[in-house]
Order: sequence, then structure tokens, then C-alpha cells
Amino acid sequence: MAAYEYETHDYDVVVVGAGGAGLRATLGMAEQGLRTACVTKVFPTRSHTVAAQGGIAASLSNMGPDHWQWHMYDTVKGSDWLGDTDAMEYLAREAPKAVYELEHYGVPFSRTEEGKIYQRPFGGHTTEFGEGPPVQRTCAAADRTGHAILHTLYGQSLKQKAEFYIEYFAIDLIMSEDGVCQGVVCWKLDDGTMHVFNAKMVVLATGGYGRAYFSATSAHTCTGDGNGMVARQGLPLQDMEFVQFHPTGIYGAGCLITEGARGEGGYLTNSEGERFMERYAPTYKDLASRDVVSRCMTMEIREGRGVGPDGDHIHLHLNHLPPEALHLRLPGISESARIFAGVDVTKEPIPVLPTVHYNMGGIPTNYWGEVLNPTADDPDRIVPGLMAVGEAGCASVHGANRLGSNSLIDLVVFGRAAAIKAGQVVTAGAPNPKANPASIEYAFTRFDGLRHAKGNIGTAELRLEMQKTMQADAAVFRTDKTLAEGVAKMTAVAGKMDDIKVTDRSLIWNSDLMETLELTNLMPNALATIVGAEARKESRGAHAHEDYPDRDDANWRKHTIARVDGTKVDLSYRRVVTEPLTKEAEGGIDLKKIAPKARVY
Ligand code: FUM
Repeated sequence: MAAYEYETHDYDVVVVGAGGAGLRATLGMAEQGLRTACVTKVFPTRSHTVAAQGGIAASLSNMGPDHWQWHMYDTVKGSDWLGDTDAMEYLAREAPKAVYELEHYGVPFSRTEEGKIYQRPFGGHTTEFGEGPPVQRTCAAADRTGHAILHTLYGQSLKQKAEFYIEYFAIDLIMSEDGVCQGVVCWKLDDGTMHVFNAKMVVLATGGYGRAYFSATSAHTCTGDGNGMVARQGLPLQDMEFVQFHPTGIYGAGCLITEGARGEGGYLTNSEGERFMERYAPTYKDLASRDVVSRCMTMEIREGRGVGPDGDHIHLHLNHLPPEALHLRLPGISESARIFAGVDVTKEPIPVLPTVHYNMGGIPTNYWGEVLNPTADDPDRIVPGLMAVGEAGCASVHGANRLGSNSLIDLVVFGRAAAIKAGQVVTAGAPNPKANPASIEYAFTRFDGLRHAKGNIGTAELRLEMQKTMQADAAVFRTDKTLAEGVAKMTAVAGKMDDIKVTDRSLIWNSDLMETLELTNLMPNALATIVGAEARKESRGAHAHEDYPDRDDANWRKHTIARVDGTKVDLSYRRVVTEPLTKEAEGGIDLKKIAPKARVY
């Protein structure tokens, strides 16, 4: 029995995480009069959404014709037909409303001459159900759109009297004996005190797990904490094998160069100076979807046409664009290129390489953000009291591959949806049931065990082993051999958690212990990813399997459900939702338009 004293807090709703989804959910909950706490391990405006650059997709038609159905079609095709149709319709339909709400909250979007929100082209976003030219659908605040959104949502949440618990690390969920989520146990990093948050609804908005890989655009805080907490309760993760590589991470540093750079007219070349994307994607070229561009870049490098002394990367050109356009539209990446690649973008190309950027998989939810615990009889069974939104959740709106700028819109549309749903199912001010003491005890015992861990392997060493394994064996291209080796290696790496060593036993600003807790979250994410990938014998979206190069809808158009217990991963599968929210006769999309077909750009 681990004896930790703790302070108890009672709320209607506790949101864990203060990125775009967490803040939009927090704001929406507080607006409806729900007593709302937002618990976050970093200061809200340092959450990883702050790094989102290029923009947020919505069919506003500010720069030319657009339609929510074209956005839905592009999202379905981008997902390689693995996304859930109801969620994708909800995203595309609600997007304009969600963006105008942001505008009214005060997000400082860039403007057109007429004062409308400025929109730029992004990969995979088209007109006329993929038959027309690229569309300018991505609403931007220069190349600092996430920064603008995050600051605005934080200010608005404070205005609505949401309460923030900043630099609190969420250790574990509190679950009742009969599977209802009742709250979360947290550790306050700056004074070492322990806190139990009781709530009628917990919303996990903890972001992705990019740091399971060696080279990622994600912040070091992206450690899949919510996914880890869910996995420890025996709840599943969904479609984890789909990991997005962004085509343009800065070579060596991994920092993001926005797809907006290609949206504004940038292009990629190989060692022969060739604009090779014209060969692979004759219609949309450098604005094909991300998985396609990342694969083409990798093929160019493999075939000996990479640039640099080792022929191991690609060039991104912006140097043909007017300097004033770069200054106006892409100031942030111009600075990143100078600092991290030593490149003046007005004169030289930027060295870039596909870099881990986004996790399509996560905690399965419906389009209201309610967490699902599917069974064979009930694939849509809800976990009462628990929601997941943003990159932590899997609604599933991105399926096997997410389109650029569909992430920021996912954050606000589904953060908002979670608040609408909570407004319906949570009774404001009603007393919270007594939290399960055994579940609280489990969290403290696990925490204490790690705090006093006396094994032989340091956290940084084991984390690096995991990251290198994932980078090598769950890469842009995968084979039966690399995946089988990867599963064996990752199982061994995860097994070494029992031999972890923590040297700092204090409770105040103990980064050794915090990183160890984060590693316990990263491990189930990494395991579910590689085991799910090894099992999926087809290629779809970001899962490019060289031994099975084609998509196999007959056998594999289904979601992977992974339950991780220690080093074991149990896989099952769940149907893809193919029914839309709205019938065609009532204004919905013609289902023939989104029927599966070959995915070419
Ligand atoms: O390229 C970018 O600006 C990234 C956008 C996104 O991931 O949605």
C-alpha cells in the first residue's frame, strides 16, 4: 500500500490536456455552465498545437468555389476509405461554423483584400469531387495558425471561468468497479503534492505519441499519455499502425516546414534538379496527399536521386517566390530554415526529409467524442464518463491517412462536439459519486513503484532503444521481415520496463520520474503500432506494405482494435461506419461519389 496524502477536487468535467482540442472542449463545457477543470502538464499556450503552422481546413469559399461535400470527399479519399463516414460528414459540415466561431472568439486570421479569412491550397484538397483543380480551403494566420488559435482559446476559457491546473501530470484514470470513469489522479510537478479530481466526465485531450519515434515534428511532450492511461484500464486503442510522415521535416533537426510552403508555390526536387512529383502525381503534383508525397520522396532517395553528400534527403524550393510573399505568408518557416538548416529561403532550397508528424490512430470514439469499448456484439459500446478528442482520439475521421489542415479543424470541431454532448449527458452541479478507492490506490502504487525503481536501465537509454526500433521497423515502407523483427524487438524493449532505474526519488520537479511515467505511456502506443502493422496484410494510406502493395477492401477495410497488457497485444477488428449522417434526399452526399476506388492524385 503506497501512502500518499492527496487533495480532492470535485468538478462536473475534467479535461486532461490544454492543446486545441482540450481548450475548445474546456471552453465549450464552461460556456454551458458546467464546472470545468483543465489539467495540463505544460502551460496551456505551450501545448503542441502552438507548433501547428499551415492552417485549418473549412469550405468557406473565400478564394473560389468550394462545398462541404467536396471537403468530405477529399477526406474520405485521403483516409483511403478507412475513415468513418458519419464522423467525416460531421467534420466537413461543421467546419465552416467552427472556423467562424474561432474568428468571433478573436483568432487573428490573415486576410484577403476584401477582409475575408485568407485560405491557401493544401495537399489532397480539391474541387468537384477530385475532378477539378486544387482548392484554397486552408484558413491561415500566416504560418502560425496553431499559435493564434491556442492563445485565443485560452483567453476565452479564462473568460468563461474554466479553472486551470497547470503543470499537473495525470497519472491514471479512476474507474469504478463497473467500468464508469470517475476522474483522474494527478501529481503537481512544482510542489510534489498529489491530487484526485472527481468528475462526471473526463475528457482526454492529451495529443499524439510522436515521441515513440526517433525523429518527429512533435514536441518532446507528445508521449501519448491519455492512450497509455486508457490501455492500462484494459480499454482499446484503434488503428495505431497508421503513422503519418510529413514530407517536409528539416533534414537532421526534424522541425516542421509547413505544407503551406508548397501551397504557396514551393516544390520538391531530386539530385537531378527534377520536379519528380510531376511523374508520380501528374494532376496535383507537390500537392498530392502527404502519404503519397512522403513515399515518392523515399523512393527517389532509395533509387539514388537524393540530394546532399550522402544522397539522403530532398530539396524544397521557395527561392523562386517573391521575398515579400515569403515574409507575409511564411515568416515562421523562413526563420526555422535559417536557424535549423542555415538556409536563406529567398536564395537556397531547404533540405527536407519525411518525418513522423501525426498519429491517425488513438482512443476509439464516436463523433461526439465518447470513448468506445467495442465487443463483437456491440461495436459501438460507450465507456460512461469518458471522452477523447484531438490527436488522442480516433473518431475515426482520418482513417489511414490525414489530410494536412484537417487536424486543426478536427481539434475544434470535435472539442466543440464533446462539449455539446457533455451538456446533454452531464447534470451541472449534481454530486459526484464516491470515487473507487481501489482505482486511486492502483495509481499511487504504480507511481510509487516507478519512483523507487532500482533496475539497471535508465529511462533515456530505454526510450532511445524504443525510438530507434520504431524508426527502423515501422517506417514509411514496411515489409513482413521488418515488421516481424520490429515486433520481436519492441516486445523485448517493452519487457525491459520491469528493469527500469529511476535515480531521483524526490517529488518536486523530478523530471527523471516524469519522463519514466511518460515512457510507461509511450510503450503501449509503440507496441500497438507495430503489432497492428505486422498483422495488416495490405497497403492503405500511411501503411505502405511492400509485400502487399495493394489495398484489400474485401479483407482489410476494418479498424484494428488493440488491447495492450504489459508486453502482450491482443488484436481484434471493428467495422468501418459506411452510413452517412444525412440521407442524399435530405441534402447529404451521394454515396456513389464516395464509393471506394483507386486512390490517384
Ligand atoms: O504542414 C503543416 O502546416 C501541417 C499541418 C497539419 O499537419 O495539418
